[in-house]
Amino acid sequence: MTRPEDWLSFPDAPRILHPPPGPRTQALLQDQARWETDAIAYPHYFPIAPKAAQGSTIEDVDGNRYIDWVAGICVLNFGHRHPRIVAAVEEQSRAIWHALELPTEVRARFLKELEESLPGTLRNHARIFFTVTGGDAIETAVSLADFAQGKRGTVAFSGAYHGVHGGAVHLTSGRRYHATSSFPSGPVIRVPYPDPYRPVLGADEGAAGTIAYLEHLVNDPYSGVDSVSAVLVEPILGEGGYVVPPDDFLPALREFCDRHGILLIADEVQTGMGRTGRMWAVEHANVTPDIVCMAKSIGGGLPLSVVAYRGDLVRELPRGFHLGTYRANPLALAAGAESLRLLREGDLLERTRHRGPKLLERFRAIAERQPTIGSVRGRGFMIGVEFVRDRKGRPPWGDRAKAMRSALLARGVLMHTCGAWDQTLRFMSPLVIEDELLERGLTAFEEALDSLEALPETPRAGGPSAPYPGRPGEPHRPPDHTIPTPGVPPIPAPHLPAEKPSAPREER
Ligand SMILES: Cc1ncc(COP(=O)(O)O)c(C=O)c1O
Repeated sequence: MTRPEDWLSFPDAPRILHPPPGPRTQALLQDQARWETDAIAYPHYFPIAPKAAQGSTIEDVDGNRYIDWVAGICVLNFGHRHPRIVAAVEEQSRAIWHALELPTEVRARFLKELEESLPGTLRNHARIFFTVTGGDAIETAVSLADFAQGKRGTVAFSGAYHGVHGGAVHLTSGRRYHATSSFPSGPVIRVPYPDPYRPVLGADEGAAGTIAYLEHLVNDPYSGVDSVSAVLVEPILGEGGYVVPPDDFLPALREFCDRHGILLIADEVQTGMGRTGRMWAVEHANVTPDIVCMAKSIGGGLPLSVVAYRGDLVRELPRGFHLGTYRANPLALAAGAESLRLLREGDLLERTRHRGPKLLERFRAIAERQPTIGSVRGRGFMIGVEFVRDRKGRPPWGDRAKAMRSALLARGVLMHTCGAWDQTLRFMSPLVIEDELLERGLTAFEEALDSLEALPETPRAGGPSAPYPGRPGEPHRPPDHTIPTPGVPPIPAPHLPAEKPSAPREER
């Protein structure tokens, strides 16, 4: 039991007063749809209008209170408005808000905290680039690697998500993201991520197949690959489905890179800042990358990202190699420095290492009696529950995972999907969540599963396999991110009031 004075969250969540979307939420959704582009995604998944948030809970404008197992997609490892982060930001707001790249006390404080927190031999031997978003950090890291190596060519994995900026989008694997980009790609060499549940190169047996394939790409003059500057890897696939690779993967990748003078870039944007029970997920494998990209929770909830690289990688970079007006915003630095301290000084990492496996077991126990769940895996507070039409053929069942998302929302729990077919529900609550809210969330999870079991499309255990999307001969079905999930009304279509035509746009 969490003592009342230790609760960070609204203690009575989940609380549904008006089934979402309630009336006030609907009005705000209409306003949003009138003015904003319809290309936004999240209101389709979670049609709620947040009014306030505390710890691991969100209250919407209709008075509903939700348990937040989304945490801003791992931006909120310390929950909403952690009192220590609020205090740090408030104090900084009374000093200075914007300072370009000039030295400030808060900048120095952040850098010292970060230095103490870096993985392996990067600690005390790293240099830092400030950036703003995850994709921004990725692009900087790849440019830096190519500059240091004097050559180009980035290995990126299938299932990878590295952002949708001009260059980062081509390192991301999803076709749907490439389709909307107008910017050219640098040389990207795509290699299957070792997914033990959906093995392509024998990943169910370990990393040997993946490494053999990489060796072939580098050694065979007819492999089609001209040069490789760096390997870019997520230690656990995030958007790609919360896929935990075989234990030998990262050490073998490190060795492969060392053998060939290739740089190893770790994308710790989603896995970092304690999410997996270590400060950085590469620490589970005792691997030190040459370059690490950090974002999301590194700003304690405010926009901040960082690239840390081996100090001896390049002797000198041209001044202005990397620029941007908003880099290292002092408010974000204050929040980030306090977040790093929270992780370094408290027992949050240890608690996540302790609670994560227990949670994994709870999800597994629930899954055991559910033939629609094919795999439960994870590390720390990064747990994926993958839905399949049947366990034998493993055809991914995105519609079922999305129906679960809606059924959970109706019960006051926010949980999002991931994976190529949106077939995996992912648990990514704040690390500071109270045990009671974990229990209530698990109860809602079981109830939501039971409620869907009654639906006619539920297969019987051992039933016939549906075709596997993406198999040769089968059309690939991209995740329908903008289509509302079953049971959730669409957000209203935009309309302009007829009586007040909008003024013609001024040309600039
Ligand atoms: C692993 C990973 N890398 C990069 C990004 C891109 O970050 P951003 O959305 O801040 O550009 C994300 C975003 O989800 C991510 O999960």
